[in-house]
This record gives sequence, C-alpha cells and structure tokens, in this order.
Amino acid sequence: MPLQHKPSGRLISFEGSEGSGKSTQISLLAARFVSENRDVVTVREPGGTEIGEQIRNIIVHNSKGDEMTAETELLLFAAARAQLVREVIAPALMAGKIVLSDRFLDSSTVYQGIARNLAADPVAQINRFAVGNVMPHLTVVIDVPTEVSLARLKQRASDLPDRMERENIDFYTKVREGYLVLAQGMPERFILVDGTKTADVIEKKIWSEIQARLT
Ligand code: TMP
Repeated sequence: MPLQHKPSGRLISFEGSEGSGKSTQISLLAARFVSENRDVVTVREPGGTEIGEQIRNIIVHNSKGDEMTAETELLLFAAARAQLVREVIAPALMAGKIVLSDRFLDSSTVYQGIARNLAADPVAQINRFAVGNVMPHLTVVIDVPTEVSLARLKQRASDLPDRMERENIDFYTKVREGYLVLAQGMPERFILVDGTKTADVIEKKIWSEIQARLT
C-alpha cells in the first residue's frame, strides 16, 4: 500500500560532510518552527528507531567493519531508512508535523554511490524502495571545505574516530563534490549554504530560504 500524508506535513532533510554543523542548525531550525507553533519531530539517520539504532551500531561501530562491503553498507543504511520512514516520518507527516531529518536518502547517493563508487542506478532504486513515496520537500546542504570538515572532526570530544570517520581526505572530497553536484542539479529541492559562516548567519539564511520556499 503506498504511503500517504496530508499536504501540511513537511519533511526537511539536512546533508553535508561530518563536521558541517548540521546538528546545530537542526536545533536552531526546530526552535524557529516551535516559535511558530508548529509541531516538530527531529530524527537522525542511520537510527531514529530502535531497529535503526541497532543497524547504526552494525555499520558504525562494528569490530569487523573493515570487512563490510560497500553493497552491504548501502543495504543496511536503506534498511534503517525504510524502518524510520514507516515507523516515524510518515505518521508524523500524516499528523501535519514538520520533520527535520539529520541525513536522508541523499547520504546514500553521495557516500555509497559517489564516494564508494557503487553504480548510480541500483543506489537510486534501493533508495526509492526504502523511502516509498516519502521524499524531502526541501534539503539543506551545509557545504564546508574538506580540510575544515576534517579539522572539526579531530576537535570533537569523542576519543576514537568511528568507521566512517576513519576515511581519508579523498573520500571526503568526493562526498563534498557529490553534494555540490546534487544541489546544483536539483535547485528546486536543495538549499545550499556556506558552512564556514557563523552559526547565526547560516541559521538566518536557512530560515529565510525555508520561509520563501516551503509552500
Ligand atoms: P553522522 O552521525 O555523523 O551523520 O554519521 C553517520 C555516518 O554514516 C556518516 O559518516 C555518513 C554515513 N552515512 C552513509 O554513508 N550513508 C547513508 O545513507 C547515511 C544515512 C549515512
């Protein structure tokens, strides 16, 4: 049965490299919507459901992680997404809520498709199967130069980098370029912001774009 939702529910996804400042901006945007009396749900990928968090652990903190193939990784991310869409996102949209998602299907297009070099067609098909008809109304890409993103990663309090964070500069350069290509190719869905500006400037830019574009 196809998933359906009321027109007033809106899904906004946030994308970008590690250390791009997504979580800060998601909190600030959530506060803006709350101040306008909108119900807001925030979720993160992979995760956001009990099953999804278990899948996240397999992907990110697996002692056998280095043996995981790119195909397995793609399917695990898709599995976590399929669960999140049906358990949390679609019901929230049906109830007319604003859903802010820290990553969504574009992460698979970029990380598994472009950076891990999996063929674009199967990645797109698997993405479509996982999300059903639930697509983001708008997607914010926070762009930061790779060196900035890696420097911010190093500064983070967490002791050891996880599996994805151990990737090298070439990988993250492909991630960054992948997002830029997507954003430039679909300007009606994407909002591209400069992540080197202050949090305050970025927040104002995102909010003005969303007000202008969220119908
Ligand atoms: P994060 O919590 O910093 O967003 O980490 C999630 C990691 O998983 C990050 O390295 C991006 C990666 N990822 C993918 O490779 N593909 C995906 O589809 C998703 C959702 C995340």
